[in-house]
Amino acid sequence: MILDETYWQERYENDTAAWDLGHASRPLKTFIDNLEDKGIAILLPGAGYGHEALYLYSQGFTNVTVVDVASASLKHLASKLPTDHGYSLLHQDFFAHTGLYDLILEQTFYCALELRFRESYFKHMHRLLNKHGMLAGLLFHFEQKKPGPPFTCTPEEYKRMAQRYFTIRLLEPCTISEPSRAGKELFLQLQKQADGD
Ligand SMILES: C[S@@+](CC[C@H](N)C(=O)[O-])C[C@H]1O[C@@H](n2cnc3c(N)ncnc32)[C@H](O)[C@@H]1O
Repeated sequence: MILDETYWQERYENDTAAWDLGHASRPLKTFIDNLEDKGIAILLPGAGYGHEALYLYSQGFTNVTVVDVASASLKHLASKLPTDHGYSLLHQDFFAHTGLYDLILEQTFYCALELRFRESYFKHMHRLLNKHGMLAGLLFHFEQKKPGPPFTCTPEEYKRMAQRYFTIRLLEPCTISEPSRAGKELFLQLQKQADGD
């Protein structure tokens, strides 16, 4: 299965975005609520309808970038944000995106990528972070009964790939998942290693 721009665009156009929660997820809201500096540069890759971007806006965060290959999702998000939002909504492939961020928020993006992108996901995240920047969010961990997406990994696989570029601050079962994802998610906090290649 090729999970390219056409695939994702059609999922939004056909109204089959089954992953969409319709609101910012509880674990990410809780994480955001604990951030003190509202001016940090934040990236939301593969943000879909961008409910977390809307939440960040409502909480006064000023420097947010959203990247998604599906223009339909970005159009929807733009219609929900005030016209003077000042956020960057980029119709772009994550792997072509350049920039430097203090924080990148992950949610159902990694699990949407073809398996061949697994290693390069962590490598590109490392490139996009400032010194000591952090990648935080949710990763799926469940028994894969049918072919993805969503694709899952074991905690050991996540650790093996991440530790080449990051110091693992946290990779633990999420205890405040949305009900539909309870027991299927890990919460992740990775800090950039200055010398990861
Ligand atoms: C499963 S959806 C999750 C959307 C959102 N994170 C959420 O939680 O509702 C995956 C999203 O990643 C986007 N996507 C997939 N591959 C991408 C890529 N290479 N670069 C940027 N966005 C991508 C898709 O268009 C889609 O919006």
